[in-house]
Formats: sequence, structure tokens, C-alpha cells
Amino acid sequence: MTSPTDDLQTVRDYLRYACTRFADPSLYFGHGTDNVWDEAVQLVMRSLQLPLENNTVFLDARLTREERSLVLARIERRVSDRVPLAYLLGEAWFMGMPFRVDERVLVPRSPLGELLENELQPWLGDRPVQRILDLCTGSGCIGIGAAHVFQDATVELSDISGEAIAVANDNIRMHELSDRVSAIQSDLFASLEGRYDVILSNPPYVDAEDMADMPDEYRHEPALGLAAGKDGLEIAHRILADAADYLTDDGLLIVEVGNSQAALEEAYPELPFTWLAFSQGGEGVFLLFAQDLKNWRSGQ
Ligand SMILES: C[S@@+](CC[C@H](N)C(=O)[O-])C[C@H]1O[C@@H](n2cnc3c(N)ncnc32)[C@H](O)[C@@H]1O
Repeated sequence: MTSPTDDLQTVRDYLRYACTRFADPSLYFGHGTDNVWDEAVQLVMRSLQLPLENNTVFLDARLTREERSLVLARIERRVSDRVPLAYLLGEAWFMGMPFRVDERVLVPRSPLGELLENELQPWLGDRPVQRILDLCTGSGCIGIGAAHVFQDATVELSDISGEAIAVANDNIRMHELSDRVSAIQSDLFASLEGRYDVILSNPPYVDAEDMADMPDEYRHEPALGLAAGKDGLEIAHRILADAADYLTDDGLLIVEVGNSQAALEEAYPELPFTWLAFSQGGEGVFLLFAQDLKNWRSGQ
């Protein structure tokens, strides 16, 4: 029996076919790429273990039978089941580095990556960074990214989910950082000890209304990584209440709250949030100094 895809032979053919299938208007691009072409290139090239850059030399190369089945199956699952590309590939790119991911963790996409690429400047100034916490770490992408930037620091990755901790540990091994990066299962600060120079966090912050309206792609991600109560602030409230006890005297707290920014500002009019700007997209990330948190708590 023949099938319409029997004529597809070359890398170029599969890229073209993926673009046509991904033109389906109900597909949502929110997990690393934001357009049909980039999604098609990543799916086809990475399924074939080919580089994403400088790959035009392969455009006329033919796929083997096994490669054809693999690429076609992944295109089908992306379109019919709305599975995010990163889960199909088992990898995602963050700060230009690969991370292992699957449905146990969110797909990395936090704007905190851009902040780390800028070495947390100008906010960090000349403060020494010896110890960093990535709270609510998921795949470990933010903390591992921080370890690459601050090469003399030790980094702890923590998450309430044992499944996320298993993925984070895989990524620590893959990045060969076991000597100074560790993963700890903890309900926020409950199992953590000591003080950190920098606490970075991309916690769950989606409010109930946005959870109900999410495109199907997000339903493949663990709800524990997204949902944060009616106003999206359930976890942020707890972080703000305790962070001062886990920061050094001139430590920094940097937390992403996305669309919940307005609700947070309304809930804490007396906290001097600095809302950070990003050139590569993203919003709703605040920075507070340890002293701000201490002053606020002592005034309560
Ligand atoms: C938005 S995801 C972010 C993952 C990762 N930081 C990233 O940027 O890709 C939030 C993570 O917080 C974790 N989490 C949810 N509630 C938590 C809690 N009470 N304590 C610690 N981690 C929690 C979830 O398991 C999930 O991995």
C-alpha cells in the first residue's frame, strides 16, 4: 500500500513536509522555538543527530528507512498529540547548552538564562559568589547554567519532585559538574541549610484562569511545575516569607513570576521590587536584595 509520504527522501523533503504539517494553525509554539521553520529544522536535524548550524551540506542527503520512520512519527506526534518538540527529542537548549528533558520536568525557557549570560550584571556588582541556589529547579537548567557562569561557586538545585531531581541529576552528570553542583529534594527551603549569595527561582506561577486556557502543548508538562493557586502566587508568597533566612547579608533573590507580576505588586506594595528587562523576550522577573527583605520583615 502506498502512502503520501513514500516520495519523501531527502533531508530537504522532510524539512518541507514538516513545515507544511506545522502550518496547522492550532499548533502552539511556546517551548523553545516560536515559528514553524525553527521547529521543523530542530525536529528534523536533531532527530538525525545533525547540527543545527552549518547543516545545509546535508540537505540533499537521503534518510535511511529507520530515520524516515522516526522523523515521520515525531512529526505526527507533534501535530496530532501536541507533544512539545523537546519531549520528542529528549533534549532542550538553554543558554546555548543541551539539557536532557522529558515529561517529568518543564521544558527550559526561562529569561533567567539571559540574566546569567550577562553574569547577573549590573545587579551583582562586585559581590563574590560562592554559593548559589536554584530553587524549583526542574531539569536543573538555571542552576547548571549558573555553574557554567560562576565557575568557582557551588550550586544547589532543589525541587519538591523526586522525578525532577532525577532529571536534574542526569543533567549534572551530562555537564560533568558533580564536583560542585548537587540536587536536593525539598519543599522550598524545608530541607535546605545555610545561606546563599544568590537565590534564583523559576517557580510555578500560573494562575487558575491561565491554567484553564492553556494550549494543549502545556498539558504534557507536569502541573506541579505550572499551577500556583487561584492568583498564581502560592509559591511566591512562601519564597518571600523565608528567603531572607537563606541569603547572605548582601545576597540577591531573583524570581520569575511571569503574568502574576501585577498580583504580586498589589500584594506587596511596600516591597521595593526591581523588575528586570530582557532583550531576548520574557517579563515578570523581580530582583530583591537581602536587606530589602529584612527591612520589610522587621517593619511588618
Ligand atoms: C516552572 S517549573 C521550573 C523548572 C525550571 N526551573 C525551569 O526553569 O525550567 C517549577 C518547578 O517547581 C517545582 N515545585 C513546585 N512546587 C514546589 C515546592 N513547593 N518546592 C520546591 N519545588 C517545587 C516543580 O516540581 C517544578 O519542577
